[in-house]
Amino acid sequence: MTKNMCGIFGYVGKQGNAAEIVFDGLKLLEYRGYDSWGIAVKVKSSKLKVQSDVGKNRFIVEKHVGKIGDAVLNSQFLAINSNLGIGHTRWATHGGVTVANAHPHLDCTKTVAVIHNGIIENFSEIKKKLLKMGHKFRSETDTEVFAHLIEQYLTKEGFTSAVRDAFNQLRGLSAFLVAYSPSGELVAAKTGSPLVVGVGDNEFFVASDAIGILKHTKKVIFLEDDQMVILGKNIRLLELPWGKEINPKYNILEWKFEGAKKGKFEHFLLKEIYEQPRVIKNIALNYSSETKNLASLIEKAFGTFMLGCGTASYAALFGTYLFSKIAKKHINFSIGSEFNYLESYLTSKSLVIPISQSGETIDVVEPIEKAKERGAKIAAIVNVLGSTLYRQADYKILLGAGSEKAVVGTKSLIAMISVLLLTAYAYVGREDLGKKLLLKTAKNVEDILRDSFIAEIKKLAQELKNKEHIYVIGRGLSYAAALEATLKIKETSYIHAEGFAGGELKHGVIALIEKNTPCIVMASNDQTYDDIVSNAQEIKARGGLIVGIGPKDNEVFDRFIETQDLKEATIIPQIVISQLLAYYLALERGIVDPDKPRNLAKSVTVK
Ligand code: F6R
Repeated sequence: MTKNMCGIFGYVGKQGNAAEIVFDGLKLLEYRGYDSWGIAVKVKSSKLKVQSDVGKNRFIVEKHVGKIGDAVLNSQFLAINSNLGIGHTRWATHGGVTVANAHPHLDCTKTVAVIHNGIIENFSEIKKKLLKMGHKFRSETDTEVFAHLIEQYLTKEGFTSAVRDAFNQLRGLSAFLVAYSPSGELVAAKTGSPLVVGVGDNEFFVASDAIGILKHTKKVIFLEDDQMVILGKNIRLLELPWGKEINPKYNILEWKFEGAKKGKFEHFLLKEIYEQPRVIKNIALNYSSETKNLASLIEKAFGTFMLGCGTASYAALFGTYLFSKIAKKHINFSIGSEFNYLESYLTSKSLVIPISQSGETIDVVEPIEKAKERGAKIAAIVNVLGSTLYRQADYKILLGAGSEKAVVGTKSLIAMISVLLLTAYAYVGREDLGKKLLLKTAKNVEDILRDSFIAEIKKLAQELKNKEHIYVIGRGLSYAAALEATLKIKETSYIHAEGFAGGELKHGVIALIEKNTPCIVMASNDQTYDDIVSNAQEIKARGGLIVGIGPKDNEVFDRFIETQDLKEATIIPQIVISQLLAYYLALERGIVDPDKPRNLAKSVTVK
């Protein structure tokens, strides 16, 4: 079986260049998956030379293994006169990355084309039945069964009912786009994973992220689970499973189309690291009422839980430390995927705070659904307007970090930490202090991004580039910074890196230290300083190479990268330095595209 997390794009309308529109849209969504891609367009003319078996009113498909980013679309395909097309960039978790498995998938008659994000759990039983009925399969995917199932229903009913009835047979969380050449219609339906419908002037776009659509229109509908939209000459929205017609809720996005421009930067990753001073300043200057509201929800709640995954899970962990330190308030922390096993004690008085860049991470979305069922209040901190978590939440704070294109998270985490820090200060009525601290932090990050400072980090990257392991230790807030530093190093440079709480060393970890093993020490000038320095000494005594990052040098550090003393916000320059170190380690190690690390996808929408 193949599972997919991916980018979806579809077009139906008056323009005759569907292939080009879909191809351009997919490029903007590539960060969602990049192991293969494909496009299907309806052929209007039967005189096409591209493929001899393609007749009028059928679909023709172009599929490739690899990234769409640098691909050039076959010029004959691009020239096809078509006003209906769908495309897909795939990230497979099961099943081969092959041209055959790349989407779109067609039915036997080549009049139904399907793309899919998610998993069809009962695909094998459906496939068995369809095989017995004589359907011919061309791939190993679960997705293809949907195309043939629709074909089967089409023998006795019209297109819309056929899609609805086929869709109702499927189990699992999925988002689909189905194009039908005889009627020239496009249908989108979902039980999970995001789909946004863009409404233009006699034309429609569907994408898994609004950034794919902004170039064409700002009027959108965020499709909800168990809804199906039929797009052709007009728009019809139905509620599933029965197909009751409902009125669409239109949103006008006030976002600017930023395109896929790296500007003067070689990679989005570096560009986004450089955007961080602006992101911090924006939160310092404009988030007073949002953070005060969140602080008051926390005050009223009987138990607050912060959760996120990966980098965002560290934001939640920072939240626990920040609230304890600044607000003297206990906040529970959980990794999103573990929250399912911890939530039995949630009540209608609990407050759950999901933290997520995309707002789509399934390991956060799912526990939030369950928390809602228990009556808990949800206050989401997300970067993407209209995302699933944004829509699930009772209260929401948008991070305002701007779209994050590099797969590894940078500016979104810094925005999350800034919001949490300001909220903790707001909780004790001192948002003025939080604001001042953030403005000072933005200034320090600006200094770090100057050439002379960067030269120091590049030098360290050259020294560490051939190391097999890098360890990072910290205590308190800097422990969470250590975890984030190692995640950045692992996913960007592929060097094995582990982060530990300094106090854990003697409980086993120190056995890993050999002569010249590099160990980065996140040393903030707070109650942790003396203890983390003595941990550094213990490592040094076993031959370790010690790199200190923080405001206060120490003789135990073999190398030292200085930040300002920013109290609780010292973690921000510590993280920025480790982002830069990870980036330059990647370049030193000859990694060609640090924006798209191997095996990863930006939005994790399947479990
Ligand atoms: C790592 C990274 C991931 C994400 C995680 C959650 O650099 O970016 O660990 O933080 O997949 O994603 P969101 O924040 O979209 O929920």
